[in-house]
Amino acid sequence: MLEVHSVSKYFGGLGALKEVDLRVNEGEFVGLIGPNGSGKTTLFNVLTGVLKPTSGKITFMGHDIIGLIPDKICHLGIARTFQIPRPFKTMSVVENVMLGVMFGGRYSTRSGEDARQEALRCLDNIGMKVTEATMPGELGVAGLRRLELGRALATRPKLLLLDEVISGLNAEEISEATSVLKRIKDEMGITIIWVEHIMGPLMNLVERVIVLDYGEVIAEGTTSEVSRDERVIEAYLGAE
Ligand SMILES: Nc1ncnc2c1ncn2[C@@H]1O[C@H](COP(=O)(O)OP(=O)(O)OP(=O)(O)O)[C@@H](O)[C@H]1O
Ligand SMILES: [Mg+2]
Repeated sequence: MLEVHSVSKYFGGLGALKEVDLRVNEGEFVGLIGPNGSGKTTLFNVLTGVLKPTSGKITFMGHDIIGLIPDKICHLGIARTFQIPRPFKTMSVVENVMLGVMFGGRYSTRSGEDARQEALRCLDNIGMKVTEATMPGELGVAGLRRLELGRALATRPKLLLLDEVISGLNAEEISEATSVLKRIKDEMGITIIWVEHIMGPLMNLVERVIVLDYGEVIAEGTTSEVSRDERVIEAYLGAE
C-alpha cells in the first residue's frame, strides 16, 4: 500500500529524515516509535504533503504522491491526526467532523445535512458523546484527541496516521481509546501507522514496529524483536 524509498528531509543542516525506506501492507497495524526528535512527525508531514522531502520517492496505492498538495493526498485516502490537536476552534465539534466528511474524502459533493448525519454517526462510532452545540474549547485532552481521530476518520481513509493519540490521557481514557483503535482496524479494515511514546498499549496492539532514531530506521520487526534489539535499547536508554 505504501512504499517509502530513500526519503530524506533536511531542515538546513539538520537531517530530520535520512534515507528512510519502509513499506506498509494493506490491512497492517504498524507502530512507529523513536525518541523525541527522531523524525516521526516529520515523516507524517512528508506522507501527507505538508512538507516536501528533500529527496526520495513515495508511492501510495501505486500513485507517486511527492509534490501533491495535502488535500489531494487526503482524497487518495491518507488521513492523519495532529500531535498537538488542531480543531477549527470557531466551529462546533460536529462541524469539525462534517468538514472531514465534506471536504476531506472522496464524497465531497455531499449536502450539509447528509454530512451532518455522517459526522454524528462517525462520532458515535468512536464513542464520543457531544451535543450539536459542543465546541472544541469545552473538550479536555481526551476529547480533543478523540476529535482529531473523528475528523480524520470522517474522510474515509484507507491509511490512517496517528500521532500520539493517547498522549496526556489517564489510564481509563487510554483503555477506551485503544479499544476504539482496535475497532478501527478490525471492523473498518483501515490500515494504521501509530506513532506513540506510551509503549505498553502500542506494543499490545500493533503487529509490527518500525523504529526511528536521528532520522534513520534503526530497527523493524515484531514487538518482541524490536524490544530486544540492542540499537533500540541504546536509542532509548543510552549506551552504558
Ligand atoms: N519545520 C521544521 N523546521 C525545522 N526543524 C524541524 C521542523 N520540524 C521538525 N524539525 C526538527 O526535525 C527533527 C525531527 O522532528 P520531529 O518533530 O519529526 O520528531 P518526532 O520524532 O516527532 O519527535 P517527538 O516524539 O518529540 O514528537 C527535530 O530535530 C525537530 O526539531
Ligand atoms: Mg512528533
